[in-house]
Order: sequence, then C-alpha cells, then structure tokens
Amino acid sequence: MSHADDHVGTRRDFLYYATAGAGTVAAGAAAWTLVNQMNPSADVQALASIQVDVSGVAEGTQLTVKWLGKPVFIRRRTPEEIEAGRAVALTDLIDQSAQNANDPTLEATDQNRTLDEAGEWLVQIGVCTHLGCVPIGDGAGDFGGWFCPCHGSHYDTAGRIRKGPAPQNLHIPVAEFLDDTTIKLG
Ligand code: FES
Repeated sequence: MSHADDHVGTRRDFLYYATAGAGTVAAGAAAWTLVNQMNPSADVQALASIQVDVSGVAEGTQLTVKWLGKPVFIRRRTPEEIEAGRAVALTDLIDQSAQNANDPTLEATDQNRTLDEAGEWLVQIGVCTHLGCVPIGDGAGDFGGWFCPCHGSHYDTAGRIRKGPAPQNLHIPVAEFLDDTTIKLG
C-alpha cells in the first residue's frame, strides 16, 4: 500500500499545494513534519498563500491545515449546523463582529462568516481568542461547535464565542474558492 493510499478516507487526509516556493505536495502527518522542518524564511515564502484540496472533506467533518504557523479549521457543515448557526440572533452574541478578514466591517451573522452562500464551508483560524489554545471541534462544547478546554470557552457552529472568557469569535482568514474543490488561503 502506498503512503497516499494509506491515508485515503481518513478525516485527517489532505493535500495542499504551495503556490510559490517549495511546491509542496504532501499528505497527512507527513505534511506537518515537512512544514515543521522548514526554516522561517522558507516557511513564510512557501505558505503566504496556499491552496487546499477539499474534495475529500465529507459533510460533518473538519480538515485542519497549518498556515502561517497556525492551524486553520476547514469545516464542511451539516444542514443542522447551518440551521443552528443561522437561528442565532445577533443580540445573543458576545462578539458582534464577524471577525472576517475578507471584510472586517461585517456583523457576526452566520452568513457573514461562511465561505459560500449556502453556508456549508466555514474556514477559521483554529486559535482560541482568549489565550491562544487550539479548540476542540466536531460539535464540542455547549453550542455544538468548538470548545477550548484551557479556560472553558464555548464556540457555536459558526465559530462564534458564546460562553467563557474568550472575547472574540474565531477569526476568519482571507480565503476564497478557486474552483469547486479548491480553497485558497491568503
Ligand atoms: S485559551 Fe481558550 S479559553 Fe483560555
């Protein structure tokens, strides 16, 4: 069995491609090792903008890639997650800003945080806005989204802070779909 075959079908399976520099193509845990071994200048040069193949991301699962030294959560939400996110009133939110780098003026509606109009794809920096821990995903916490166990911050299905000490919603990076299965970060 090849290395690639060995990872097919797992949640952690992913490919990503550097748009400049090293031309990195790697799968699974091997990618983390490769990125971690790069020196800082090569790391920044190669990863300032990356393209992520999301064709293998099933509904209700999350892909985590490392970008600019941080984890980025790419979640393909279920209809239930979308519905839950859209049912929340702005006035119920701790942070009213979408925290979306694609348009910093946006309010924190569910629609303003997703990458596509249907609300299926949610791309976020996987760093808790309290003190920087990496939250747990897959429906964790009291609001069915992400939970940061460091000090108990609960994020909803749109990655918005709902309870706990974190002051802001999970941040959304500059991102766009290049085609149906490719997301560009940066
Ligand atoms: S770092 Fe997440 S709750 Fe403190």
